[in-house]
Amino acid sequence: MTSIAAPRMTAPRRRVIPFVGQTLAYFHDPLATLIHHYDTFGPVSDYKFIGRPWTMMLGPDASEIVLRNADKAFENAGGWGYLIGPFFDRGLMLLDFEEHHHHRRILQEAFTRPRIADYTSTLGPAIAAGLDGWSTSEDFRAYPALKDLTLDLATQIFMGGADVADSDELARVNQAFIDCVQAGLGFIRVPLPGTRWRRGLRGRRVLEEFFRRHIPARRASTGTDLFSALCHIETDDGHRLSDDDVVNHMIFLLMAAHDTSTITVTTMMQQLGQHPEWQERCRAESMALPLHPSLDELDTLTSLNLVMKECLRLVPPVPGMARQAVKDTEVLGHHVPAGRRVTVGVHLTHHMPELWPDPERFDPERFADDRREDKVHRYAWQPFGGGVHKCIGLYFGTVEVTMIVHQLLRRFEWSIDQDYVPPMNYHSLPFPKDGLPVDVRPLEQGLPE
Ligand code: HEM
Repeated sequence: MTSIAAPRMTAPRRRVIPFVGQTLAYFHDPLATLIHHYDTFGPVSDYKFIGRPWTMMLGPDASEIVLRNADKAFENAGGWGYLIGPFFDRGLMLLDFEEHHHHRRILQEAFTRPRIADYTSTLGPAIAAGLDGWSTSEDFRAYPALKDLTLDLATQIFMGGADVADSDELARVNQAFIDCVQAGLGFIRVPLPGTRWRRGLRGRRVLEEFFRRHIPARRASTGTDLFSALCHIETDDGHRLSDDDVVNHMIFLLMAAHDTSTITVTTMMQQLGQHPEWQERCRAESMALPLHPSLDELDTLTSLNLVMKECLRLVPPVPGMARQAVKDTEVLGHHVPAGRRVTVGVHLTHHMPELWPDPERFDPERFADDRREDKVHRYAWQPFGGGVHKCIGLYFGTVEVTMIVHQLLRRFEWSIDQDYVPPMNYHSLPFPKDGLPVDVRPLEQGLPE
């Protein structure tokens, strides 16, 4: 019996201006660009991004195939590594297969519930101290204030606070860290003077030197911060992190935790400012709890949890995930050649009308038990990714964001014009270019401690 091989389909290609064509369109309006791409070419298609051919995976089916990676056809090192590798070298997200599994098992020990309870015991007072410095006004810029707040929290929770460095050094470390984050999506990908790339490489050296210098003290300490935890954690079978591992993981963890949490709280402030009924509903639940709730008490903030999920849907802090094919493979019948870089377009999936009725509407109830629109597909809602690289800080990040908004609600009330649409910058992770102007006022009634 003879068989006829099915013709191999290649992903539809789009003629573009080399190097800048789609990159600029994407930076200008990513969602519109992705919708156009999906409507024109379907869930799997080729495009050019930062000068290289990539294949775009859109929609939950294509996302699932790549993220679950059942036949190990995709790796992170060649995908994320191309974008941010020099700055976040050997961070967990840039490791693959056996090596990734080995490191993830050790790092899990730093993200157990008791450890998170330890981190959060310092988180509540640190948030309160940070908010003490907020001077409210009709034109308060929420995004930079939240970015400063979460960076301060990172130094408390991740590095053990002020004993690690003086304020000048912390400012230098913070700048180095920002330079690393911004370097990844620069057009010029060599260290020419004045480029983001060069600043990023310099930033990486500052961070390496900083963490390496503080390792001996952390190894000797009994601190409950994440840095100390990484210096001490050990799996049941005795695996620990080397000094190099601790440095590499710390630098990546800082990045992974900081911007993602900032963006999430920023979107929540925007939506709660534009939807006073939700702000009141969330505040009523927060007022029923102490200022510094336990992890169990945080679980009772049902409305806040719905709002957070909806905000993560509307503005996923990681709007796309990068991979590289390590062998020839197929996704939904389309050939993806070995070596091809691939993006999983989370942002579009979160706005597909076939998954989310009235997708642009802020509607936290869509995640309520009686609706659960996210259940329509395992990969309809994927702000934390999926598969073996799914966010290891999912729970910790949720707790941090919830605790910040909980305190905001108990301390302030705020409003934003209903018609306001934030002008977003998508050059690295998304943020409002105007800093999100908000009318913030201290809450009228006094607060129980
Ligand atoms: C709202 C907050 C957060 C969001 C939306 C978020 C999102 C994500 C996403 C989408 C991924 C998967 C990337 C991929 O597969 O390509 C990821 C991975 C990761 N995240 Fe988060 N993240 C958040 C908070 C955090 C926090 C607080 C930490 C640490 C304290 C963290 C640490 C990590 C790490 C280490 C990875 C890599 C996991 C691996 O490769 O095994 N994240 N995150």
